[in-house]
Amino acid sequence: MSARVFTVAIDGPAAAGKGTIARAVAERFGFRHLDTGLLYRAVGARGGDPVVAARTLSPADLARADLRTAAAGQAASRVATIPAVREALTDFQRRFARQEGGAVLDGRDIGTVICPEAEVKLFVTASDEVRARRRWLELGGDEAEVLASLRERDSRDSARAAAPLKPATDAVILDTSAMSVDEAVARAIAEVERRLPAG
Ligand code: CDP
Repeated sequence: MSARVFTVAIDGPAAAGKGTIARAVAERFGFRHLDTGLLYRAVGARGGDPVVAARTLSPADLARADLRTAAAGQAASRVATIPAVREALTDFQRRFARQEGGAVLDGRDIGTVICPEAEVKLFVTASDEVRARRRWLELGGDEAEVLASLRERDSRDSARAAAPLKPATDAVILDTSAMSVDEAVARAIAEVERRLPAG
């Protein structure tokens, strides 16, 4: 069982809870987890030519302490519109998704572009206000500004030509607006269990 390839793709808009669900699913099933947003955040944070940054990304870039800020999120969503940046990051993500032992990836285009063959596809969402409140509780600052920043990022991510944010046609939509973390995680785990091969 542990040698099998099995991919869980978790996509959705900013601060929808993808990371929390992805980590919990990975832990429950012993799968590896990749937060693909961190790749784009690291490219944006490097500055200079984003295509060069994407082609030469190193573990040190991913370990920067400032990748979770709102500014890093905005920079990420700008470099994420550049097709050559996305291409430079694709092979790594695909290999990660299809490694033996199972993998959970969260992002925007995992079920649509990176791994359309994923065994489980979840599109995790919540109302704008709920997502802004969750992000504000994490990062602090001005709640109205957090909401405006999320909306700006979501519309850039949805409107771009390259791998726009949208649910795969075969994704299960999980609206977590009125769910606790435990409920959302339980729903995600149930979707994985339904599709895990027997034995
Ligand atoms: O954590 P949060 O949902 O706020 O954002 P993130 O997942 O860290 O992603 C930051 C930005 O990277 C997004 O707004 C997207 O523009 C970009 N991104 C992407 O284009 N494709 C992915 N697979 C993951 C992130």
